[in-house]
Amino acid sequence: MFEIVRRDGLARIGRFSTRAGEIETPALLPVVNPKICTVPPKELREEFGFGALITNSYIIKNTPELREKALSEGLHSLLGFDGIIMTDSGTFQSHMYGEVEVTNKEMVDFQRDVGSDIGTVLDIFTEPYWTKKRTAESIEVTLERMQEACSLKGDMMINGVVQGSVYHDLREDCARRMAEMDIDVHPIGGVVPLMEQYRYSELVDVVIASKKGLDPSRPVHLFGAGHPMVLALAALMGCDLFDSASYAKFARDDRMMFIDGTYRLADMQSLDCNCPACRGHNISSLRKLPKGERTKTIARHNLYQITSELAMVKRYIREGRLWELAEMRCRAHPALLDALRRLKAHTAFLERYEPLSREGAMFYTGPESRARPQFLRYSERVMHRYVPPTDKAVLFPDAGKPYSRVYQQKFAEARRMGLTPVVMSPFGPVPAELDEIYPIAQSLFPSISDAETEKVSEDLTMDFISAMGFVETVSSEDIPEGPEETQEERDSADRLRAKAVARYQFGMEAADALFREPVELVKSRKTGKIRNVISDGEHVLSMRAGDGLYTLRAEGAARILDAVPAPAMRVVVDDDAAPFVSEGRNVFSRFVLSMDPEIRPMEEVAVVSSDGRLLATGRALLTAGETASFPKGVAVKVRSGSGDDA
Ligand code: GUN
Ligand code: ZN
Repeated sequence: MFEIVRRDGLARIGRFSTRAGEIETPALLPVVNPKICTVPPKELREEFGFGALITNSYIIKNTPELREKALSEGLHSLLGFDGIIMTDSGTFQSHMYGEVEVTNKEMVDFQRDVGSDIGTVLDIFTEPYWTKKRTAESIEVTLERMQEACSLKGDMMINGVVQGSVYHDLREDCARRMAEMDIDVHPIGGVVPLMEQYRYSELVDVVIASKKGLDPSRPVHLFGAGHPMVLALAALMGCDLFDSASYAKFARDDRMMFIDGTYRLADMQSLDCNCPACRGHNISSLRKLPKGERTKTIARHNLYQITSELAMVKRYIREGRLWELAEMRCRAHPALLDALRRLKAHTAFLERYEPLSREGAMFYTGPESRARPQFLRYSERVMHRYVPPTDKAVLFPDAGKPYSRVYQQKFAEARRMGLTPVVMSPFGPVPAELDEIYPIAQSLFPSISDAETEKVSEDLTMDFISAMGFVETVSSEDIPEGPEETQEERDSADRLRAKAVARYQFGMEAADALFREPVELVKSRKTGKIRNVISDGEHVLSMRAGDGLYTLRAEGAARILDAVPAPAMRVVVDDDAAPFVSEGRNVFSRFVLSMDPEIRPMEEVAVVSSDGRLLATGRALLTAGETASFPKGVAVKVRSGSGDDA
């Protein structure tokens, strides 16, 4: 069972529960080689806090002493670990070190019989150099074995490994067909060679293609990914679980993992690491340790690097800033920078899961930041949902925020001249009315801009000018410094703002319904900012100070239901849940009958009954696809019920 607690990008902080306990994701499972045990499982749990590990059932099965002990006492006793044990099936061993005869049935039976909590199908490893034909044929075999594994698994959970080499359509298809089966976790397999060869941009395509086909309610494991430098990027793409054999393998070769790469002890100039394993050591004392002790010290160092980065990844997800962390991490190596750049090809997919706004400010880290879904979303909405009040525009440079404060007098004078003020920002054109919405106001850019973003901003502004049909565009330098803005002028600018934000957030038709005249704006006495929109005597909207966007009131939602055809903005719940929702209880995913597929996380929605009656307003926490697949969890955080369903 898997439940989302927090989300950012495609990443999720989740609760994954198994019969051996629960772990919080993203989580890394250290690989334990039962024959070597570089760091004993007890220590992995007690010192490092790993709640789950992965071991190889194939090695155990092929080692008589281990096999007997595992079958008689169980895997948990064999390893001395009472957390979650995942087992791999031997696919990788037989693939890397030559074919050894075992069958899928034998391997699944064995994993179940020794008490593995999560076993793995004997999938066929699809190499990146394989032809499409060979890949497609072997996927068919993996899928057949998967069916068999599902029928044999008993009460063990089962890993359904998505294969498909570098063929995106095959990956997506394999994922989609596995989504139909009774599978508990989805590792993405066949990616170790891509990571070993630093082909990270291809890894991005492979992970996204797999994610597209998978069921969002199942955790995704990136097989063989355990280097701290890839964790932020992989989590951002929606990988929930990772495993690392490298911490021990590298240690045996005297290689140390750091956030910016792996370094040979022989090549390092100094140690300068303050992790608990290295504390008290310098480079020469570490080198002088006897081999066994050195391996163990380096393995522990490697584990500390992994756990501290994983903690960092979680912190950034909780703060809604994982894009920033991934962008920083991907600058550690040009191949990772390629991966970050490649992510841009998938922005439209990522946008579907991107929350409408978040609490903190968005930091720009370089031209790659433009791949973030917020950029795409803003430019699409401003193009399609903005209506200029006049047919002439005036362009202002970005000289500090908020624009309507920085340019207060100039904007007022421009409006007197019949001009629509537009600022050329790194997001592209920002009409004065939209300068306080997320992410325009809540973003930080360096004051020395880069050529790429400047160029994109210019291009987008030119597209906007032509799309809006402006007959004339002038420069801000042509605007004289006029008299102070009068109260009347400010009120009229606020009315433009109020409606422009509603169009941006809810679309044209909804905004017209929400702004039926007479419209009165209630403003904060302290800040002068818009607080409430009263239309025709009804309080329809409240503007949030934090993100400059609206909270939808029941009266507003009722207007939208009348004006905009279903399924727009609606979440339909079943009749049993209706009374609870109208009392203000949250909507759990299992009670949702259907939902507008265009709803993004954190968007305002109308919760309605099966016959279309308004029950409540609230904010969506899940997308329609997620709501349909998650058996547990809150789909809509309800703000206030209509209270009239009793
Ligand atoms: N370990 C690393 N990659 C793979 C894979 O593709 N399949 C399995 N079963 N194990 C792996
Ligand atoms: Zn260290």
